[in-house]
Amino acid sequence: MSQQVLVLPGDGIGPEITAEAVKVLEACRDQLGLDITLDEGLVGGAGYDAHGEPLPAQTLDKARAADAILLGAVGGPQWDKLPDLSKRPEKGLLGLRSNLKLFGNLRPAMLYPQLASASTLKPEVVSGLDIMIVRELTGGIYFGQPRGIRTLENGEREGFNTYVYTESEIRRIAKVAFEMARKRDKRVCSVDKANVLEVTILWREIMEEVAKDYPDVELTHMYVDNAAMQLVRAPKQFDVMVTGNMFGDILSDAAAMLTGSIGMLPSASLDEQGKGMYEPCHGSAPDIAGLGMANPLATILSAAMMLRYSLDQGDTAKRIEQAVSEVLDEGLRTADIMSEGMTKVSTSQMGDAVVQALLKA
Ligand code: NAD
Ligand code: IPM
Ligand code: MN
Repeated sequence: MSQQVLVLPGDGIGPEITAEAVKVLEACRDQLGLDITLDEGLVGGAGYDAHGEPLPAQTLDKARAADAILLGAVGGPQWDKLPDLSKRPEKGLLGLRSNLKLFGNLRPAMLYPQLASASTLKPEVVSGLDIMIVRELTGGIYFGQPRGIRTLENGEREGFNTYVYTESEIRRIAKVAFEMARKRDKRVCSVDKANVLEVTILWREIMEEVAKDYPDVELTHMYVDNAAMQLVRAPKQFDVMVTGNMFGDILSDAAAMLTGSIGMLPSASLDEQGKGMYEPCHGSAPDIAGLGMANPLATILSAAMMLRYSLDQGDTAKRIEQAVSEVLDEGLRTADIMSEGMTKVSTSQMGDAVVQALLKA
C-alpha cells in the first residue's frame, strides 16, 4: 500500500522550501517508482489565520494518520504579539512533537566538502565534519510544569519555567544516542550542566547506567558552556552528542554554521516506533520570505531522512543526497552559501537542479 506523507509548509519561507522538497519527492514517485501519496495541511501562523489554532484538529488528525510528516517552518513577526501564548505558531510545532511523542530529534551536522569555504570557520577546522546531535524533544524546560508569569506580593511580575526530566525520558533518549553511535564512530558525548542543575546530575547518572549496556561505545560528558566553545574550536572531536531539549536547540544552530549555513541542516524527530516528522533545523526566516532566496537543501535533505528512517527507502534517500552533492559540484549556490566563482541560484532553481541531478543518475 502507498505510504502517506503529510506536508505542512507552515509560514515565512516554509511554503517556498517545502515546494522544492515536494518536487524532489514527486520526481521520486513519478520517475523512480517511490510509492507515496502526498497530502497537505496547515500549521503555525497559517493554521491560526485559517482556523484560529496553530495546530488545527484536522491537521493533528492527518498527522496521526500519516506514515511520515514533512514540515517547513513556523512563526513570524505578525504572530509574535499574540497575547495568548497557546495560539503562537511555535505552539503548533511543539504540539505536533508532543502529541505524536516525537522525543528523539536527530540533527546531523555534516560538511559537504564543496562548502568548506562557505563556513565562517577555517576550512581545516570543519573539513570532514560529521556530527550527529541527538536532542531530547518532548521534555525538559520546554514542557516542564509549572510555568507562567505571576504577580508577586510586592506587585512585581515573575516569569518561571521548570526544567524537569524523568529517568525514563533520559533512558530512552540515551538509547537513541548509543544505538546511533554503534552505526558510526562509537563515541557519545553527553552534554549537561551537572555542575549546577540537579536535573542534569540525574541525566549524567542515567547516561552512565545506559552506557553499561553498550560497552563498545565510549561515553564522555561535557558541560554545555564548554560544548558550545568546543563546537567552534575543534568540532571534529565529536561523533554523537546527546543533550536535552533546550541545550540541543542552541547547540544545533551553532553546529549548523559549521556546515556552511543553517540552510543545510536537516532533522528527523522520531517516536519509539520510528514514525517521524522531518524538518529543516532553521526557522521561517521572515527577513527573506517571499524573495526566492531561501536555501531549500535542508528541507530536501530532511525529505531524504524521511525516506531513510520512516519509509524504509534508504537507497532513494542516498540518491537524493548524492543529487544534492552533484548540484554543489556544479557550483550552484543559494545566497547563504554563495562564494566567489560560484553560480548564484534561486530557491526554485536549486530545487530544479536537484531533480535534474536525481533523474540523470
Ligand atoms: P531563522 O532560522 O528563521 O533565521 C535566522 C537567520 O537564518 C535569518 O537571517 C534567516 O534569513 C537565515 N535563514 C534561515 N533559514 C534559511 C534558509 N533556508 N536559507 C537561507 N537563510 C536562512 O531564525 P529566527 O530569525 O530566530 O526566527 C524566525 C522565526 O522562525 C521565529 O518566529 C521563530 O520562532 C521561528 N522558528 C521556527 C523554527 C521551526 O519551525 N522549526 C525554528 C527556528 C525558528
Ligand atoms: C527548532 C525551533 C523550535 C524549538 C521552536 C520554533 C519551537 O527553534 O526546531 O529548533 O525551539 O525547538
Ligand atoms: Mn531552533
